[in-house]
Amino acid sequence: MARVVLGLIGFGTVGSGVVQLLSHQKSLNLKKIAVLDSNKERAVKTVCPVTTNVNEIIEDPEIEIVIEAMGGEHPALEYIRGALERRKHVVTANKEVLAKYGPELFALARQKGVAIFFEASVAGGIPLISTMNKGLEANEIAAVTGILNGTTNFILSSMESKGESYDAALKQAQQLGFAEADPTNDVDGHDVAYKLSILSALAYERFIKPQDIFREGIRNVTAQDMAHAKEFGYRIKLIGTSRLAKDVTSGDSACDVRVHPMLVPLDHPLANVSGSSNGILVNGHAVGEILMVGPGAGSLPTASAVVGDTINLASALQLPDFATYFQPNIRSEWGNVVSVGSWSCPFFLRILVSDTAGVIGQIGTILGAHKISLASIVQKGVQKDEHGASAEIIIMTQSTKEQTLRDAIAEMQKCSFFKSMESLFRVFEAPV
Ligand SMILES: NC(=O)c1ccc[n+]([C@@H]2O[C@H](COP(=O)([O-])OP(=O)(O)OC[C@H]3O[C@@H](n4cnc5c(N)ncnc54)[C@H](OP(=O)(O)O)[C@@H]3O)[C@@H](O)[C@H]2O)c1
Repeated sequence: MARVVLGLIGFGTVGSGVVQLLSHQKSLNLKKIAVLDSNKERAVKTVCPVTTNVNEIIEDPEIEIVIEAMGGEHPALEYIRGALERRKHVVTANKEVLAKYGPELFALARQKGVAIFFEASVAGGIPLISTMNKGLEANEIAAVTGILNGTTNFILSSMESKGESYDAALKQAQQLGFAEADPTNDVDGHDVAYKLSILSALAYERFIKPQDIFREGIRNVTAQDMAHAKEFGYRIKLIGTSRLAKDVTSGDSACDVRVHPMLVPLDHPLANVSGSSNGILVNGHAVGEILMVGPGAGSLPTASAVVGDTINLASALQLPDFATYFQPNIRSEWGNVVSVGSWSCPFFLRILVSDTAGVIGQIGTILGAHKISLASIVQKGVQKDEHGASAEIIIMTQSTKEQTLRDAIAEMQKCSFFKSMESLFRVFEAPV
């Protein structure tokens, strides 16, 4: 059988792992690798020619599969588009390009009769995409929820286990290579938002524009929050969720898609996904709930997904019209999202109030007027500064609509006893 000819764009963390794993695949022939700087010393040795001209790959008629492992938005988008236009199949690890241009790229692939494989774009080495695309095909997916970013999970795990600040944990993550010098993409939740867009496309057939996804990162989580959460039986995790909902105004189906820190009960499996691991729950109407845990990044785990895709694709190339079999049903229109205020869950609030008699009663009255039931309200202590004495109050509500809570907080903020909102976290409940 003729060997399938491949081209690889990118020879960094993922690309190096791909070259390593491809060297064991006798039926695959890596013809050329494109990079930015051909003089750079590479961690992995290869006899394959290295070029700085990507056109030598995407315009080579012999190359049937282009592996894109360079990342970033441009020119990666143009390279993927160029390969599809020349009827080449594409294997990519690029969540940003898929989340921002997915509808256009999948439509182009359909038109050209080729396939896009993207297992490595979400949750690195965990076979989540193929599980959702094929293994769970008989299911209607109600929700996909989980820890989708290893960097932030590493930072939050270190903050909790060592009682250290966000800045100290970030610095350590950078020294160990778990966080980039500019950590914005990870710590502000952009990376998770891209992944949620892709997971929404698999679960609900439509990508969600990343800018429509509600996003709160971990920069404001403190060691004090971690300690309080633990006292109440929770651990703070950055959780991404996409679940099917209804748009209340139009009645059309829409998605509730969001990423923010949450208090996860200590006895829930997601609370025990620690370090740089990822953990994802998928809820299907037939299968119930499944949990997948594993390495969300790293050279070989990510390359395992890329090369797995490539082997699958290469074996299917012999079959007539195979591309449609592999491609998930993804529509060309973007999906709608519901407003963040329509979500219901319990909330955890830490506020500073003036240390005067009757404040807890007044808080209870305001929450009661908004029909918010309390799970607990505790005064943690009294602090003194130049503005007088402040009491720290921790409130856990029962499940309530986010907009209702925001209205109640706005009312509390107008009261003379209210000094500051120190933290507000949503509390994780298993999706229904
Ligand atoms: N790292 C992970 O653990 C991981 C996990 C899951 C998904 N991913 C995704 O995988 C992709 C690659 O990530 P990575 O960590 O491997 O990145 P990386 O280490 O920065 O490597 C990027 C590679 O692309 C090459 N490159 C950059 N711009 C190029 C251009 N214009 N033309 C040709 N080559 C170019 C670079 O060339 P030089 O070497 O010459 O600079 C480098 O070899 C990204 O989409 C990322 O989101 C990564």
